Amino acid sequence: MRTPVVLAAALLLCACGEGRQSVLNPSGHDALLVYDLAMVMFVGALVLWLLVGGLFVYVTRINPREMSRRLAEVLIIGGGVLFPVVLLGGLLVYSLPLMQAPREADEGMRVHITAEQWWWRVEYERPDGTLVTSANELRLPVGRRTGLVLNAHRVIHAFWVPALGGKVDMIPGRETYLSFLPEAAGTYRGQCAEFCGASHALMAFETVVMAPEDFEAWLTAEARDAAPPDTEEAARGAQVFAREGCGSCHTVRGTQAVGQVGPDLTHVGSRLSLGAGILGVAAPDFANWIAHTETLKPEVAMPSYDHLPAADLTALAVYLGGLE
Ligand code: CUA
Repeated sequence: MRTPVVLAAALLLCACGEGRQSVLNPSGHDALLVYDLAMVMFVGALVLWLLVGGLFVYVTRINPREMSRRLAEVLIIGGGVLFPVVLLGGLLVYSLPLMQAPREADEGMRVHITAEQWWWRVEYERPDGTLVTSANELRLPVGRRTGLVLNAHRVIHAFWVPALGGKVDMIPGRETYLSFLPEAAGTYRGQCAEFCGASHALMAFETVVMAPEDFEAWLTAEARDAAPPDTEEAARGAQVFAREGCGSCHTVRGTQAVGQVGPDLTHVGSRLSLGAGILGVAAPDFANWIAHTETLKPEVAMPSYDHLPAADLTALAVYLGGLE
């Protein structure tokens, strides 16, 4: 009784979520190729298993007589040599070209992504060569192949957005490469797929696939400097940010904060998540994050600012949340 219950529960759990981070929900050209290959292998393996199992039952139960020498030779040479050579050769011819696709030269934009501990530095290369820096979120135009130039800072990480394509290691000192051709607008979750330290599991990001014109508009907005604080409380938050020295690690373009150690915060309030996929971006999320970084993300470089007076913390959260 127990086994069927466990199996049913596992199947139900598999159906959880809406496939935002699933290889079974391919929404990019490269993910679709991997999905098709997996299906061919899975169905093929099943057919082969049934065939061999059927043959075994036939010769041991249904017709257990001694075989003629000729039939045995046909079975051994045909089933043991010819059949696997033809089948595996066919699979090889079918699958080899698939390996090339994710690495082919990109025709569109390039995005440089560097894995840090434990967040993602994301830089969009514009046609004139300038970089637009962002973090912990990837935006892509639908229907265009975008090249992803992957690097890592200290240890090996792996870049993976299951719904859009394969997985590639990010290695310190060695550039690796991947490209995506998204086929459906939507938001897909990515996750670091190589153990990289205490907060490996807390190293995620959203990939937002947008209509090309929306993407261009977004990139233009992302390239702008931060808007100055528009409320008294936000202005106070900006003072707290400067006083606490946040700008020595973080950049807010258009201000004196030009730090390069942590994520660029110029438009942090317009992102979908905070702390690389672990919190939302409402003001309470910012306050929670700033005061409890070390609890929320073990061994993170940013210390918990739990000494801040509550009013300062709230003002700082309002300021950062307003950086849209
Ligand atoms: Cu980065 Cu695991």
